[in-house]
Amino acid sequence: MAVPPAGSPGAPPAIVVLTGAGISRESGLDTFRDAGGVWQRVRLEDVATPEAFARDPARVHGFYNARRAQLADPAVRPNAAHLALAALERHWERLGAPFLLVTQNVDDLHERAGSRRLLHMHGALRRVRCLGCAAEADWSEPLSTATPCPACGARGGMRPDIVWFGEIPMHMEGIEAALAGCGLFVSIGTSGSVYPAAGFVELARRHARTIELNLEPSHGASRFGEARHGPATALVPAFVDELLSAWG
Ligand code: APR
Repeated sequence: MAVPPAGSPGAPPAIVVLTGAGISRESGLDTFRDAGGVWQRVRLEDVATPEAFARDPARVHGFYNARRAQLADPAVRPNAAHLALAALERHWERLGAPFLLVTQNVDDLHERAGSRRLLHMHGALRRVRCLGCAAEADWSEPLSTATPCPACGARGGMRPDIVWFGEIPMHMEGIEAALAGCGLFVSIGTSGSVYPAAGFVELARRHARTIELNLEPSHGASRFGEARHGPATALVPAFVDELLSAWG
């Protein structure tokens, strides 16, 4: 069946997906606010703010070096939820319909699952940035205050390319434009604790179908038109199958 062109009546909806730490939980990466989560073990004020980095850069580097090293663990790999979202993106691309995956996560599991139309609004563990010349670089090794900038050679100025609390999330203009034009907004594995991501459903709900796929109701659950609760590796492939069947 020929699919009507994007934007015309009966066309497949433009999709925006938001993911949080819950989508990577079944890949062995901790969430932040669940029992045993990251912020239950370390104070974010000590490792995830510009002030913490100015006060004790070695401690901040140590925190992110440990999380970056986890990504090299062969047991940490994309799960069925990551893979289903990459398949959905490819299908939507074949239909000529807009698709955007926005993640709050700093792991690289969406990329490794094959996602391409992907924005990391909180940065990425495998990216670093020089405070001196602002050069960015892919990085998988430990970082320290002695690491020279690969571009300008300065020492002491390399930082993780992560958005810390109190800093401006990345790609917001493109994200807000995509939300304004979407017909379907899907939120997966996030507690809805941190803005602006927690407010995306408000930007979509007036004109789009909104659904939350989460282990348990998030703080913003009541603002979604639909909600399904359970593990992402069960919910996401099933939901993607529904979309692929509806828009075969
Ligand atoms: N499947 C689906 N959802 C899950 C699973 C799972 N297997 N396991 C946990 N969850 C859900 C939890 O119920 C919770 O609602 O994932 C959510 C994780 O919430 P948080 O730990 O708060 O993580 P997140 O929402 O991504 O945090 C947002 O806060 O600390 C900052 O920058 C950090 O990007 C992060 C942001």
